[in-house]
Amino acid sequence: MTATPAVSACPFHGSDRARQFDPFGPEYQTDPAAALRWSREQEPVFYSEVLGYWVVSRYDDIKAIFRDNITFSPAIALEKITPPTPESLEVLKSYGFDLRRTLVNEDEPVHMERRRALLDAFAPDAAAAHAPMVRDLVRARVDAMAAKGEADLVQSLLWEVPFLVALHFLGIPAADHDTLRRYAVAHTLNSWGRPTPEQQVGIAHSMGQFWQYADEVLTRMKADPTGRGWMYDMIAANRADPEVVTDNYLHSMMLAVIVAAHETTALAGANMMQRLLADRAAWNELCRTPALIPNAVEECLRHSGSVVAWRRIATRDAAVGGVTIPAGGKILMVVASGNHDPRKFENPDALDLWRDNTAEHLTFGYGSHQCMGKNIGRMELRIILEELTRRLPHMELVPQDFTYLPNTSFRGAERVLVRWDPALNPAPRPERDFVMGAPRRQDIARQLRVAAVTAEAEGVIGIRLDHPEGAPLPGWSPGSHIDLHLPGGLVRKYSLCGADGAWQIAVLREDAGRGGSRWLHDSLRAGDMLTVGGPRNLFRLDEDAPFHLLIAGGIGITPILAMADRLAQQGRDFAIHYAGGARGRMAFADRLARDHGARLTFWPGDAGRRMDLGAILAGAPPGAQICACGPERLLHALDALAGARPDCTLTVEHFAAAEGLLDPAKESPFAVELADSGLTLTVPADRTLLQTLLAAGIDVACDCEEGLCGSCEVAVLEGEIDHRDQVLSRAERGRGDRMMTCCSRARAGGRLRLG
Ligand code: HEM
Ligand code: FES
Repeated sequence: MTATPAVSACPFHGSDRARQFDPFGPEYQTDPAAALRWSREQEPVFYSEVLGYWVVSRYDDIKAIFRDNITFSPAIALEKITPPTPESLEVLKSYGFDLRRTLVNEDEPVHMERRRALLDAFAPDAAAAHAPMVRDLVRARVDAMAAKGEADLVQSLLWEVPFLVALHFLGIPAADHDTLRRYAVAHTLNSWGRPTPEQQVGIAHSMGQFWQYADEVLTRMKADPTGRGWMYDMIAANRADPEVVTDNYLHSMMLAVIVAAHETTALAGANMMQRLLADRAAWNELCRTPALIPNAVEECLRHSGSVVAWRRIATRDAAVGGVTIPAGGKILMVVASGNHDPRKFENPDALDLWRDNTAEHLTFGYGSHQCMGKNIGRMELRIILEELTRRLPHMELVPQDFTYLPNTSFRGAERVLVRWDPALNPAPRPERDFVMGAPRRQDIARQLRVAAVTAEAEGVIGIRLDHPEGAPLPGWSPGSHIDLHLPGGLVRKYSLCGADGAWQIAVLREDAGRGGSRWLHDSLRAGDMLTVGGPRNLFRLDEDAPFHLLIAGGIGITPILAMADRLAQQGRDFAIHYAGGARGRMAFADRLARDHGARLTFWPGDAGRRMDLGAILAGAPPGAQICACGPERLLHALDALAGARPDCTLTVEHFAAAEGLLDPAKESPFAVELADSGLTLTVPADRTLLQTLLAAGIDVACDCEEGLCGSCEVAVLEGEIDHRDQVLSRAERGRGDRMMTCCSRARAGGRLRLG
């Protein structure tokens, strides 16, 4: 166990807004993401005096903290955020209450050792085995309410189903629901609420009774350990290795996991139904297109998740978002705010069922402690949504005020009242099951209509897309791209460049390419339908920069055009340099000259004008952001020259390598032999072993894909491993009998045999 170090520096230097921040006030309680919008924009890491915590609100900063669980220990994840009164401590003592660490707040190395010992129950097949039970539970409750015409969805479905699933998963016999509901409320207020001293005493009694209840159940289970469920796995682990899975650990886990598995999912369900029914267009779309359900669940977890904040403590002085958090500094990561960070999610406040990166939300945490039960939670929410859209698509929200239990971290409406006309209950569409795990990005794409195909320059066409029913398409920010799914399984990225938010792209015909642009040029006509992913933005304008130098080569003008439009609209100072083979082949030349003429320099090659990058960079005002898109040689040249201007920031768009994990120039390919099937695969230099196994149809669990969470482990029978994860201990590495497939490889020139 890591000792909690004392805070060593005086942190009270924040702004007025930071001083006024109140996580128990109505603003945060109503909408934590909106309450921290100012922080995301102006002061992403600040000290809250009210709370005694450093508050972190941006996506990347939160993820960086989750990623490093040594510098940022999870030890305080369940600590009482409101210090306990002596009276409440006395009450707890009288019950023998002794809740200690429970995975989620454990430090390394013991955490990973226990996590891995207990991971099997969460493997995709094991989790999927619970689906029929979940389906039966949901169906029975929908049957019971279908003829009534009205319901509180929380009371009749959303609270009880995750509760019974949690008990079933753990192997605990069904118990007294009302008592456990009281315990759950007490647990939330105890850890994350601001109860009065009198309330603290009542909560302490409930917690004490919960502790004793867990003890009774556990004693019964230990007396007959032949049952099935995760608690039985733990009992077996306790027998096999009482040092790692201790008696107190069993008891603490029993209490903590009931809450971890139940309340998180129940509250997420309440938020999901509230959010979807409040957006009739989204709800109707989901009733029509059930294939969207897995992504809709993910988008609801992002937009209105049940875990809105999570905690860490700094074990040493450490920089986060440019601010030094002192050793001992307590940190509140407002994941709901990170989930609404426009640097990560386009139009973050909109609910977009087609958002193709929504599964990267932080509601399940991230890294080595990331929620182990996330696929079970997902599965429950999907089945609930599937049954409700199938059976009661005409249900609507009753006008109501939603109420929440006041606390910093767990959030979900206490009631969701709905009504429908039972006379209109439809014949349900056929039932549908979903593959376990996060939705796959390639499955999340809209069907859009080609509104127009226009000639933009020699060899360049413009394509404008719209919604087939005329509905508005989501807005996008300059630098965003969309993915076009083309015949032959090709997926191509194109930057959006339409004026006034139109979904317009430009496509250069590339005869030497794999055929995507040729097909678009030769075959696409107005009125055709296209499958489109996105928009996403990996090429962002820093709107705080004092000056923007926009540099485009050839078709790289498309994002640059959108950036210029935006900067002009804001009355900002910028310059555009646009190089191309010949003026006639340079798309949007006339529009640029018309709209941005005074700021534009053309560099057409046929006029003998080669872009003088050195001079252009030398002339940039101090602090400028240089945004560049074009051929690789242009970007390389810029990269080499940018060293002379350390005061400026260079931001470039590399479509090809935007999301690559490996640098192929530094890696070697290697062979893996699979002992079970006798199959031999080659892992190329630019792919991970995990990607290669998945591409070959071999099921390997994975979560973080960064060597942090331990889920992609495989056994190694022969061969020398180049370990690159943070999961295995030095001793385990030394044994050489296992590896993390998402990042580790064979030693150069080697070959591996996997068990
Ligand atoms: C951990 C959220 C459902 C079991 C966590 C964490 C969060 C979370 C935020 C901490 C992550 C971190 O520190 O990085 C949720 C949400 C759920 C959900 C939002 C539902 C929508 C479940 C279910 C189970 C479960 C259904 C069990 C069946 C766990 C366990 C951990 C955990 C065991 C501790 C993992 C570790 O520290 O290694 N969950 N959870 N959760 N969750 Fe969940
Ligand atoms: Fe997380 Fe490999 S360690 S997926």
